[in-house]
Amino acid sequence: MRFLPIILAGAFAPIVGLAAPAGQDDLTKRDNLCNLSAPPETCQPDPTVTVEETALRAYNFYRAFVLDGNPRLMFSLIDSVYKQNTPGYASGPNAIWPLFCGGRVIGTEQNTDWCFDASTNMSYARYSTTDRWHWVDGCIHEHWDQGERIPAAEKCYQLPDPEAAAPEEDAP
Ligand SMILES: *[C@@H]1O[C@H](CO)[C@@H](O)[C@H](O)[C@H]1NC(C)=O
Ligand SMILES: *[C@@H]1O[C@H](CO)[C@@H](O)[C@H](O)[C@H]1NC(C)=O
Repeated sequence: MRFLPIILAGAFAPIVGLAAPAGQDDLTKRDNLCNLSAPPETCQPDPTVTVEETALRAYNFYRAFVLDGNPRLMFSLIDSVYKQNTPGYASGPNAIWPLFCGGRVIGTEQNTDWCFDASTNMSYARYSTTDRWHWVDGCIHEHWDQGERIPAAEKCYQLPDPEAAAPEEDAP
């Protein structure tokens, strides 16, 4: 059993240090998935998924990716295409699986932010950088991370549950 966060990519090393204690706690309660060569589950596109459900999934993805370091949930929301738009990065969920299988926590609700813009079906997460994802049929389909910015608060979907939407309270 391994209890320490596994640092696989040097590029992520600076942010790992900030969240190491929370990551350790989470990992002790979770299987180490890094012995799997691919995600245990990816997202099956479903055209009946509503905008509200997509917004909720976008929030859950932000939590799994940034706050909880939960690779199983993260990849259950990524489709088999996962097109990358950063030069030099291969597309597909399997290409990024080794970066996330260890379950790193990369931020807190206080020092990060998220948004789902229903007019574009794009979601955003801001941590040490800002990522943007395009949702298609209830799944993350495409990713950008070059010069992205969280949209103005009025563009961001308000989840009906005030608890679930808590990070929005601090939005500028
Ligand atoms: C990976 O390791 C976990 C325990 O950490 C174990 O439950 C699982 O069966 C392993 N999977 C494979 C494919 O070896
Ligand atoms: C966003 O996705 C919904 C389905 O969830 C779809 O009905 C709508 O046309 C999409 N909007 C855009 C701008 O692609």
